[in-house]
Amino acid sequence: MRKNPIGFFDSGVGGLSVLKYALKIMPEENYIYFGDSLNAPYGTKAKEHVFELTEKGVEYLLKQNVKAIVVACNTATSIAVDELRKKISVPIISMEPAIKPALEKTKGKILLLATNVTLSSDRVNKLIDKYDHDKRVIKVPCPELAKKIEESVFKNINIDSYLNNILLPYRECDVTAIVLGCTHYPFVKDKIVNFFKNEIIVFDGIDGTVAHLKEILIENDIKNLSNEKGTVTIESSLKEKNTIELYNKLLFGGIL
Ligand code: DGL
Repeated sequence: MRKNPIGFFDSGVGGLSVLKYALKIMPEENYIYFGDSLNAPYGTKAKEHVFELTEKGVEYLLKQNVKAIVVACNTATSIAVDELRKKISVPIISMEPAIKPALEKTKGKILLLATNVTLSSDRVNKLIDKYDHDKRVIKVPCPELAKKIEESVFKNINIDSYLNNILLPYRECDVTAIVLGCTHYPFVKDKIVNFFKNEIIVFDGIDGTVAHLKEILIENDIKNLSNEKGTVTIESSLKEKNTIELYNKLLFGGIL
C-alpha cells in the first residue's frame, strides 16, 4: 500500500500547481495526475454537472489503486468532496481558499479570486463568515480565467488583457493580499502581483493542502518510506497530440 500512487484530480492543468509542490515536499511518493481538460472549465457549469465530473475523475483514480486522492481543484472541492468522502474508502484531501492565513497575516483588503461556483458555495461562504469579522474579504468572480489559462497553455493565447480587466476595479483599493481560490491561478501569480503598484502578498493554499496530505499519509501509516525518487504519471481526458507534453512542461518547466 505504501508504494501505491497518490491520485491528483483537477478540471485541467490547475492541479499541477499543487502536484508541483507535493513533488518538492514528498519526492519519494508515486503520483498519478488526471486532468479533465476535455471538460474544463468546471467553474461555469451547473453544480450537478461539476459533481458528476468530479465523481467520474475520482472513480477513475480509484481504479488505478491510489492510496489517497487529492482533489486539487477548489471548484470540485466546494461541490463534491463532502459527499464523496462518505462513499470512498481512501482518504480524500482537498483545497480550501487560504482566507484564514491571509486574514491573520495581513491588514487591509483581501481579494478572493475564484470561480463563480466556488464563490457561491456554502463551503466557502461559511469559511468567510467564520473568519472575516471585519469584512475585509472582497469576492472577485473570475468566470473565464481557468478557461483562459487552459487556452494559454494549449493554444498559446495571451490572456493579459482579460486578467487586467478583472483586476482593474481593485487597483486603487488598498489591497494588501490576494487569495488564489483556484488552482489554475498560481500559473499567473506573477502577472497578478505585477499588476498592483503596491506590494501584495499572495496566498494560494497549496502548502496547507500538501502539509495536510503528508499528515494523512502518516496518520494512516501509508507514507512511502523509500529513499528513492518516485514516479509521476500524467493523464488527461483531452486526447490531443501534445496534451501530455504540455502538462509536463507546466509541471517541470513552467510555460506560463
Ligand atoms: N482548478 C479549478 C479550481 O481550482 C479550476 C476551475 C475550473 O475548471 O473552472 O477551481
